[in-house]
Amino acid sequence: MKKKYKVLVIGSGGREHAILKECLKSPLCGEIIAAPGNGGMEADANACFAVNVEDPASIAHLALEQEVDLAIIGPEVPLCEGAVDALEEKGILAFGPNKEAAQFEASKTFTKDFLAKYEIPTAKYGNFTETADALKFLNNFPEDETVVVKASGLAAGKGVIIAENRAAAEEAVREMLDGGKFGASGESIVIEEYLTGRETSLHLLVSGDQFLTLPSSRDHKKHGEGDTGLNTGGMGVIAPDPTIPDKTLKHILETIAKPTLAAFKSEGIDYRGILYIGLMLTSHGPKVLEFNVRLGDPETQLILPLFEEDTLELFIRTAQKGELPENLTLSGKSGITVVLAADGYPGSYEKNLPISLPESLPVDTTVIHAGTSINEGELVTSGGRVLNIVSFAETADAAFDNVYKACEHPYFEKQYYRKDIGKTVSATS
Ligand code: AMP
Ligand code: GLY
Repeated sequence: MKKKYKVLVIGSGGREHAILKECLKSPLCGEIIAAPGNGGMEADANACFAVNVEDPASIAHLALEQEVDLAIIGPEVPLCEGAVDALEEKGILAFGPNKEAAQFEASKTFTKDFLAKYEIPTAKYGNFTETADALKFLNNFPEDETVVVKASGLAAGKGVIIAENRAAAEEAVREMLDGGKFGASGESIVIEEYLTGRETSLHLLVSGDQFLTLPSSRDHKKHGEGDTGLNTGGMGVIAPDPTIPDKTLKHILETIAKPTLAAFKSEGIDYRGILYIGLMLTSHGPKVLEFNVRLGDPETQLILPLFEEDTLELFIRTAQKGELPENLTLSGKSGITVVLAADGYPGSYEKNLPISLPESLPVDTTVIHAGTSINEGELVTSGGRVLNIVSFAETADAAFDNVYKACEHPYFEKQYYRKDIGKTVSATS
């Protein structure tokens, strides 16, 4: 009989609930625990533990104490802090890039210099720590041109300012370098040219010099229908993305993914885990906007169920420095996930609202928990993105119909969701 693994999932979002559910489908999964988890993870896991998951030593301590066989690290902060290194030091198998490899998300200045060194297409840029140098660099752009100013470090998705002219860019530079706007994350900044085109992303599962391309997906980052309003962590996803032709995908693999992995090798970086490549499809070809070292949220909720292979087995093989299969077998289905958000998100919003779940759901439809928790035995809201409704069907249209039927249920007070997930394709220009 194959070994059964005791699995620990680190994180508390929709991504981690989806990972946990995938692990539960695997014959390799014995017990599964989570930290800190959310309302849905508490229901599905054997136990959840309230530890500070931003502290690698606390994660390693929990894993040792609970005799875990594999830890899966969901979010970027513990990866960038070195959770995988801390677990491996204690002899515990861990899925995710180590601290050195996680620099590709922890430091945008590091990533830009790496891309430039290996001539991997990306926006023209400069890295700065001194205000005077940054302001001088801005003079290279016409006064009324849009410029992008980025805090180099982690800023929970808020550290990128699209400045519509030089004056706005100067203000962004001063706020970050002099005003401490993003704390230590903004002590070093990237200034780069504004790219136009269609934005997309590609997820790879990387095990050293082998990789698998995960199903394509299209996030909808804006709060409002028609891609309007404020930026969010993501309001919904369609996968596979029907608007990315195979030819484009191949082009991205040849011009960006493969050169990136070859460059990791040249730099002696043993990358293991997910590499999320954020891209702009420009008229001069695809260019890298950013690398993330973890799965997208809410992309994960669709990506993992869309292939037939056992996700837990793939994660174990990667962590063990083992072989990956040559290709993934796609289910052939289409998926749509819709985020049910709290009124006010991405600004301030109420928490602790009671949640009621429907008694039945349309076929192949599930509710994934994101910002939920259990308070005195009751399921309540605890975040801005509260629930993700996920539907799969033979066609994207059928998935659309089912997911929106399930969204009609009143889950919590003043729930907000976009009604056009999978239908809107916008380009910046
Ligand atoms: P990042 O975290 O670097 O991906 O930036 C967040 C978002 O800002 C991206 O998803 C893009 O929508 C936008 N963005 C970042 N860099 C650029 C750029 N050079 N040109 C245009 N938009 C950008
Ligand atoms: N949904 C976008 C991200 O996870 O970065």
